[in-house]
Amino acid sequence: MIVSSALDYRAAARRRLPRFLFDYIDGGAGAERTLAANIADLQSVTLRQRVMQGVESVDLSTEWLGVAASLPLLIAPIGMSGMFARRGEVQGARAAAKKGVPFILSTLAVCPIEEVAAASARPIWLQLYMLKDRGFMENMLARARASNVEHLVFTVDLPALGIRYRDAHSGMSGPFAAQRRLLQALAKPAWAFDVGLMGRPHDLGNVVAYLGGAMKQQNYLRDIAANVDPTLDWSTLDWVRDRWPGRIILKGVLDETDARDAVRCGVEAIVVSNHGGRQLDGAPSVARMLPRIADAVGDDLLLFADSGVRSGLDVLRLLALGAKGVLLGRAYAYALAAAGQGGVEDVLDMFAAELRVGMMLCGVGEVRGADSSRLSGN
Ligand SMILES: Cc1cc2nc3c(=O)[nH]c(=O)nc-3n(C[C@H](O)[C@H](O)[C@H](O)COP(=O)(O)O)c2cc1C
Repeated sequence: MIVSSALDYRAAARRRLPRFLFDYIDGGAGAERTLAANIADLQSVTLRQRVMQGVESVDLSTEWLGVAASLPLLIAPIGMSGMFARRGEVQGARAAAKKGVPFILSTLAVCPIEEVAAASARPIWLQLYMLKDRGFMENMLARARASNVEHLVFTVDLPALGIRYRDAHSGMSGPFAAQRRLLQALAKPAWAFDVGLMGRPHDLGNVVAYLGGAMKQQNYLRDIAANVDPTLDWSTLDWVRDRWPGRIILKGVLDETDARDAVRCGVEAIVVSNHGGRQLDGAPSVARMLPRIADAVGDDLLLFADSGVRSGLDVLRLLALGAKGVLLGRAYAYALAAAGQGGVEDVLDMFAAELRVGMMLCGVGEVRGADSSRLSGN
């Protein structure tokens, strides 16, 4: 199979993974309207083609919060990536380090933070979900400090788990889920051997060490739903701050009022995101909300963004709409599932090449210049 874009990796991931895992990555909440809108609205953003600008080369490097990156990209936190490829989070973090971009480890990773931090040549970032058990939260933050985590990404758009119909249909949840997953795994022998057998243990590494049997990958969705803390509010941020001396980036802000409140609460950076359409189906797309948020907060907040990014041109579009860095979610997960570390390195190269050519055709030579002046009268 010829792989020339992130979408080719999606097709390859579909072939390799048992259905419940592919649908878990690919699907969204409810009727998947927000998931579809993320992609459609972003792709409808038109860029301003310029000529005779003499851009001989493009510099894709950038810097946020004291961290240098060779591309304006980050690997988004993706729960359970260790089920997509053997010790998937380790492979993802190694690829990110090799390409010079931050890797954000999910709280709900298969590989525990110590395993990933030790394997990565670059300090990792940690994504935090607020679980009800404050003892676990204390423990997680202490382990993050001991693992030299660079920045904390605190996800705030999951006080409850979005309802995802696809997961019930595929066997990720729903009746006879374990039996259905087993049958699907047997139908994908390459995955079953490489990941199902050789990629053990499949526990949620960060959680299981502390909570023991209280939260297991086998009952993943049910257990997340039961363990996330719905009381999350702005005072929770103070609780986290008291236990985390470094920077905190809030992930999952989608509304101007919330963004202004974040500024008021002393937040430096947010990820404008609707969780890739996996939480509130019916929420607006990120492409629609990002410019409003950028207008509302000006230079008071550093804006990252994700949701619906499938090519380097989509990255350019989000930069032009106000983001300073873009997280790759599914685009990363498909490549990891299809081809492990090499796939992730390859997809990062593809994004870099597409972004570089896109910037040249817009007449811009550096990431800083990829601002709203690059939009063509949308
Ligand atoms: C399979 C999957 C698992 C995810 N797990 C997490 C997670 O553990 N923590 C989190 O903050 N976001 C999680 N997300 C959301 C991503 O970090 C990111 O916001 C989203 O994928 C961006 O949308 P896109 O995939 O359309 O680019 C997950 C997304 C997917 C697809």
